[in-house]
Amino acid sequence: MSSIAVLGCGNIGLSIVEGLISKDKKNTRKLYATRRNPASLKGLESKGVVVGSDNLKAVKNAKFIIVAVKPYRVVELLREIAPQLKKEHVLISVASEVSIDQIKAAIKKDIPVFRVMPNTASSIGESITCISSKNASAAQTAEVSAIFETIGETVVIDENLMEAATILGACGIAYVLRFIRAMIQGGIQIGFDAATATKITTQTVKGAAELLLRKGTHPEQEIDKVTTPKGCTITGLNEMEHQGFSSSLIQGIVKSFEKIEK
Ligand SMILES: NC(=O)c1ccc[n+]([C@@H]2O[C@H](COP(=O)([O-])OP(=O)(O)OC[C@H]3O[C@@H](n4cnc5c(N)ncnc54)[C@H](OP(=O)(O)O)[C@@H]3O)[C@@H](O)[C@H]2O)c1
Repeated sequence: MSSIAVLGCGNIGLSIVEGLISKDKKNTRKLYATRRNPASLKGLESKGVVVGSDNLKAVKNAKFIIVAVKPYRVVELLREIAPQLKKEHVLISVASEVSIDQIKAAIKKDIPVFRVMPNTASSIGESITCISSKNASAAQTAEVSAIFETIGETVVIDENLMEAATILGACGIAYVLRFIRAMIQGGIQIGFDAATATKITTQTVKGAAELLLRKGTHPEQEIDKVTTPKGCTITGLNEMEHQGFSSSLIQGIVKSFEKIEK
């Protein structure tokens, strides 16, 4: 299998490396991981990962180059590695708000470039990673999708939807967690201690998501099953809507999108 270099092994970079390790127990794929201060990555060495701060060396030895530094460092890093990039390389950026055209302008090489957007659930193998590209073949797209399937699910989208993907998939983690926090607070007010309210809420949220994922139903079909006429569920739901529940969520998503588009 082709080798992979992850340049900028922080939160997201490390979760990608850990996902790749967990799905490739026999170490069939060579992995390289860099950051400027690589001491915190030393634990990866016992799992067969080549760890260091030399980006050029990692690029020289790998086929897939995953750039996972902060957005404001991307161009500087790309200029550093550009002399080492050959036509066999496939370049993948996970940085938000850095377009494929900006990446191509920085490297000045005619190689396939992918722009992808995972989320922080990548650390437990439950990311949704949106993938877009320019000049990539179907085979290369399949290979890149396979890399990110090690940290969760993937979806291939047009690059012009990448900002929307950042809002719904990456920022989405925060929206859902805020919803969970509010539900826990409600649970405490109606009688549970925090730990029990958290356990009931988190498993309920997981169960609701799994219902849709496994059965492919629309949320409202599942809601209909728990709303008895004149019952407590519909009474609470309607009160939430009167207070602007769905509307505030949609407006928040749109505001986040307007902010990223500026
Ligand atoms: N966190 C998220 O939810 C999320 C989701 C999707 C996409 N992203 C994107 O992922 C990227 C990384 O985010 P993050 O949260 O993982 O940031 P992070 O934890 O700060 O990781 C970035 C890493 O890059 C290293 N680095 C900086 N300059 C470097 C260089 N010249 N060569 C090699 N390594 C270098 C840093 O380590 P040293 O200081 O030791 O070099 C740091 O560990 C961002 O572009 C972000 O837009 C993040």
